Amino acid sequence: MARYFQKKQCRICGNTRLVSVLDLGRQSPANNFLKKSEMNRKKPRFPLAVQFCENCSLLSLCHVVDPEILFVGYQYLTGASAPLVAHFVEEAKMIARKFIRDKSNLVVEFGSNDGTLLAELKDYCRVLGVDPARNVAARAKKRGVPTILAFFGERTAKHIQARHGHARVIVANNVFAHIDALHDVMRGIRTLLREDGVFISESHWVGNLIGEGGFDQIYHEHLSYYSLHALRTLAGVHGLIITDAELLPIHGASLRVTMRRAGTAGASVRQLLLHEEKIGLTRLATFERFAKRASANKAELRELFRELKRKQKTIAGYGAPAKGNTLLNYCGFGRRALAFITDTTPSKQGLLAPGTHIPIVPPAILKTELPDYLLLLAWNYADAILEKEKALRAKGVKFIIPVPRVRIV
Ligand code: TMP
Ligand code: ZN
Repeated sequence: MARYFQKKQCRICGNTRLVSVLDLGRQSPANNFLKKSEMNRKKPRFPLAVQFCENCSLLSLCHVVDPEILFVGYQYLTGASAPLVAHFVEEAKMIARKFIRDKSNLVVEFGSNDGTLLAELKDYCRVLGVDPARNVAARAKKRGVPTILAFFGERTAKHIQARHGHARVIVANNVFAHIDALHDVMRGIRTLLREDGVFISESHWVGNLIGEGGFDQIYHEHLSYYSLHALRTLAGVHGLIITDAELLPIHGASLRVTMRRAGTAGASVRQLLLHEEKIGLTRLATFERFAKRASANKAELRELFRELKRKQKTIAGYGAPAKGNTLLNYCGFGRRALAFITDTTPSKQGLLAPGTHIPIVPPAILKTELPDYLLLLAWNYADAILEKEKALRAKGVKFIIPVPRVRIV
């Protein structure tokens, strides 16, 4: 595959009349933090923009970057986030209780990352992970979760089925957004799933993106932003039925769906479909409004920075999540805007932020170099961070919460 290509057809329904709604400019992949020694090497930038399908309601990126560039050296570890671990332990318990009958049952998870979920299930049944990222798959294997190093699709599914038999449960959490060849994946699920099997999947819910106005959730890894409407169309193409749907308070709001070969849509599905219609997730105008808010948000931030710089105030970043890079690149903030960004993750410290080359440093720097303002890039943790940093605030440091409106606290 070329390094990237333009997506001219909806990946769910094939519609070619997609409507562009928001252009975030050319950007480096948001998780490609770089070493100082790599700074002078030319780093690729790819277009970052979203489009809406009025036929099936899918919001998706206009361009697809080669997954080898994004995922093979993937750094993200599920196990590094305590709330996420707790969430998946809970889900594992639910799966064991509802669907596992004996030890011979097989649970396959793709995008299994470091094996956080499957590790909880391996005492109840057979488990198998599928993930293309060598470094994270190695961690899963170390904790006793057998993992195939691959992208999931029909070929991998046939291979697994031939060796291990059909799966009672297939799980895909926070990975559907990453997949371009969705139909190949769905064919894989059909191939591998037992007649009475269930496919359970969680993805960030587009209603949360629109509701919060967090345009910075948009980056190259996230190809699709799902509603239940869009997923229902996808399931239908493959003769599967979404029997249950629920919104869970993780990553703002995540949509968990359960698909089966036979059955009927339960009350939870009907209710959420109605809710999505009510809040406009099936209408282009909703997404156009979202885009307008994003661009107003950018203008507001740029104005604030101009004002602060004019007053010779110093500013640094707080937290270096991937989404922070979307925000900084979209706003055109570089090293002159932010002297540094603090982050608690040891593997990010000492690196430079992709695109902007702002240095990422340990939070201890704030003991000696205190800026006047801290731009809270990890704004989804605002409450916890403001509470944790009371002492800094008592010294007069102000936090800038950038999204969805600028707030200074
Ligand atoms: P996440 O949204 O993917 O969990 O990323 C949050 C980032 O913010 C992660 O790199 C860690 C960083 N962070 C801090 O530096 N300090 C904090 O207090 C918190 C909560 C996060
Ligand atoms: Zn579509």
